[in-house]
Amino acid sequence: MKTLCIFSLLVVLISYIEADYVAAVVEYQVSRSSTPNLTVQSNIDDYISHIESASIHSAQIIVFPEYGLTGFVDDPTDYAIEIPPTASGPSFKDHWLTDLSNAARGHGMYVVVNLLEKQRNEKNKTIFYNTNVVFDKEGKIVAKYRKINLNGEPKLTPGKASENQVTFSTDFGITFGLFTGFDMFFYIPSRSILNGTFVTDIICPSYWFSALPFHHSLQFHSAYAQANKVNLLVSNVDNIREGVGGSGVYGGNGIVFSYYISGTPSSKLSIGRVSNTVTDIAVQGFDILDENDTQSSMENYKAGRNFDSNSYKFKDLNLSNGNITDRICDGTFCCSFNIIVSSGNSSDIYKLMAYAGPQKLGDRKDIYVRMCSLLACQTKDPSSCGTRNFNIATQFSQISVKTDVADKTTTFYQPISLRQNLLTVFNTTYNSSVANGKRFISFSTNKLEKNVIAFGIYGNGSGTLGISLSLLVIMLMGKYLF
Ligand SMILES: *[C@@H]1O[C@H](CO)[C@@H](O)[C@H](O)[C@H]1NC(C)=O
Ligand SMILES: *[C@@H]1O[C@H](CO)[C@@H](O)[C@H](O)[C@H]1NC(C)=O
Ligand SMILES: *[C@@H]1O[C@H](CO)[C@@H](O)[C@H](O)[C@H]1NC(C)=O
Ligand SMILES: *[C@@H]1O[C@H](CO)[C@@H](O)[C@H](O)[C@H]1NC(C)=O
Ligand SMILES: *[C@@H]1O[C@H](CO)[C@@H](O)[C@H](O)[C@H]1NC(C)=O
Repeated sequence: MKTLCIFSLLVVLISYIEADYVAAVVEYQVSRSSTPNLTVQSNIDDYISHIESASIHSAQIIVFPEYGLTGFVDDPTDYAIEIPPTASGPSFKDHWLTDLSNAARGHGMYVVVNLLEKQRNEKNKTIFYNTNVVFDKEGKIVAKYRKINLNGEPKLTPGKASENQVTFSTDFGITFGLFTGFDMFFYIPSRSILNGTFVTDIICPSYWFSALPFHHSLQFHSAYAQANKVNLLVSNVDNIREGVGGSGVYGGNGIVFSYYISGTPSSKLSIGRVSNTVTDIAVQGFDILDENDTQSSMENYKAGRNFDSNSYKFKDLNLSNGNITDRICDGTFCCSFNIIVSSGNSSDIYKLMAYAGPQKLGDRKDIYVRMCSLLACQTKDPSSCGTRNFNIATQFSQISVKTDVADKTTTFYQPISLRQNLLTVFNTTYNSSVANGKRFISFSTNKLEKNVIAFGIYGNGSGTLGISLSLLVIMLMGKYLF
């Protein structure tokens, strides 16, 4: 007993020593009151108690989600406040900002919040932004970011790309980049922020509408970190009936430092000890839940779906063949798979899938994706692929997928991996490198895996002037046909 205690103490100590810094992300259930003022005030009070708890865990930075203070409101008018420029504080005209600033100062912690901001434009008309604000340990505003890629926010003005390449450096030696939720789907700012800056860590407050099988929260967020080799702090609102939930601290080395996702509506402070020197996979996840618990309690998590099976190419997989080497193409976009089935179950159905073409994402229709994936399917009908309400028993010793594509700056790639419990396939290798104008991408498992729903590669060339000619043609055709 005594040895066990000393041992756990040692483990705790080691994990503290190894940490580059301690981050807290809050999965947050928004509380609502009778008036906008009371709603925001009660959420600020909740935020302050989370800051207090985070301080007990020695957190140096805490992140709260997008729309965390208000809920996803249509009309910003009664919620928006004026936010003074960077370097303001620690005292503010607005008492909400003052409360948050005091909490940051009182606990010596960087505090990241998302707010609705109002401002008068040149014509003296009030305009609104979706804005992240960062307070430093002295309670001053050190960074302010206005969301560039809005989604379902018709009354807001998008932040200007030229003014919203936002980074800030901390006294614990980390330079962070900052953007918000839906921005992660777009080159500007989610990839442009990494070019020519010293950013090693990203903060992303989110109100993330998860969709199966490629855009689920943990899946997409951890893939961003892994592909870009940056640490990523995501705080998400918890509203699982709308498919919103899942927060985490993801390592650029493929290690997840902490995550939280649940089928039971709840708020949860999640502490991640970020370490760029830990390479031992066994050390990963100081705050990771029991996977079996997660699977059964996940039933209530109602994710959306973004899967246009009529447009995709599919190929059946014969699980009786222990060692499968196969290739699937959509046009000139091809992926090669190398799969070793450890124990195939003839009642399971897996297919290979490939797609290169436009995809509707929220409000946006200018997104061109490339995706290829191994997918679990409920029936032989491809429209049932990539769902998760059925049993699969097949285990894979290895899944490995690779592709090569023309290298374009504004087209970016990341892995796809998802299991039935909505977690990713942990312990994988993703490799992307450029040679002779071509990008070579590979993604592989490193151990036995089961309950795999999706495993592949996702590419996106979106919302930029580098729009491909074929997409332009498709869009024009769309205009005339529909
Ligand atoms: C909300 O609070 C602000 C001050 O923060 C005050 O000016 C305003 O009148 C309040 N609105 C309501 C409806 O109470
Ligand atoms: C802008 O509008 C506000 C309220 O309508 C008014 O009080 C203010 O004087 C106006 N400012 C200018 C520069 O016109
Ligand atoms: C799957 O592969 C096994 C072994 O090669 C073969 O016997 C079986 O007929 C195949 N099934 C289908 C549907 O092709
Ligand atoms: C295959 O899976 C089904 C349930 O999905 C199970 O009933 C059956 O026993 C499994 N067969 C083998 C050979 O594992
Ligand atoms: C990544 O790909 C490059 C180019 O194909 C190769 O040289 C390198 O060894 C690969 N790295 C890993 C870790 O697989």
